[in-house]
Amino acid sequence: MRAATETKSERISASAEAQPRIRISRAGMRYDAAQVFRDIDLDIGNREVVAIIGPSGCGKTTLLRCIDGLLPLTSGELRLEGEPVRGPREGVAMVFQHFGLFPWKTVAQNVAYGLKLAGRGADAIAAKVAECIELVGLAGFEHYYPWQISGGMQQRCGLARALAVEPRVLLMDEPFGAVDAQTREILQFELLKIWEMRPTTMVFVTHSIEEAVLMGDRIVVLKGRPSTVHEVVEVDLPRPRERRTLTLPRFAQLREHVWSTLMAEALRAEYEVRK
Ligand SMILES: Nc1ncnc2c1ncn2[C@@H]1O[C@H](COP(=O)(O)OP(=O)(O)OP(=O)(O)O)[C@@H](O)[C@H]1O
Ligand SMILES: [Mg+2]
Repeated sequence: MRAATETKSERISASAEAQPRIRISRAGMRYDAAQVFRDIDLDIGNREVVAIIGPSGCGKTTLLRCIDGLLPLTSGELRLEGEPVRGPREGVAMVFQHFGLFPWKTVAQNVAYGLKLAGRGADAIAAKVAECIELVGLAGFEHYYPWQISGGMQQRCGLARALAVEPRVLLMDEPFGAVDAQTREILQFELLKIWEMRPTTMVFVTHSIEEAVLMGDRIVVLKGRPSTVHEVVEVDLPRPRERRTLTLPRFAQLREHVWSTLMAEALRAEYEVRK
């Protein structure tokens, strides 16, 4: 098993790049009395996909919100391209589990949202919106409202909205958690294709071990209360990742490795509840 195991206190280096796109140092977060995570050290490279997996409530969404600049850390530091994160930044886009679309805006208006905020001109917005809608396979649905399209299509719209701002950092919070299994698989492979066309930094939170292995260059396993980085698994599967990636023996090995790590935690939690 070549899955790299590192202790939580070691710095986890993204690559040989001089400056990682995201640098998370000794990061801790507490809500009032509850410490959610602590001592997270993680560097993420410019074209790297880091999947984050961990039990419900371990702070995955919180960490993404901190990277997005929506929440300040309560300890440690977060840097984006060398600059401390002090609020939302252009070039960082988030895709939410529950789509996060404006119900009163059409597909095209939702996709245009970030571009409008960034003050782009009408012609540039129209061109970019059309390009991104085409890219995610929503052409023809520009004038539909979110409630008139399926969950999978809503998530395509959320993805198009994020891609429209040409993000240097794409934050994905269980993006396919609310769609059915078949749609999820279709969207996973479409996202991989889009990423191959426009590789960028991606932080991908998921509860699915298969999805983490399929998407990630590394998988960060968060565990404990407060949670810390328990393990970082290097996913040494070739890219482009395609359907046949799922059939590789190495895929199964990695999946089993992450599964046993997470299950050990789940079983321990259950044992403690019963004690
Ligand atoms: N605004 C808030 N105020 C107080 N506590 C919060 C707030 N947001 C989250 N929490 C708490 O922080 C912890 C981490 O929440 P978070 O949503 O980040 O977990 P998560 O890992 O994303 O969980 P899930 O897998 O269920 O999405 C939870 O215990 C949650 O109750
Ligand atoms: Mg969450």
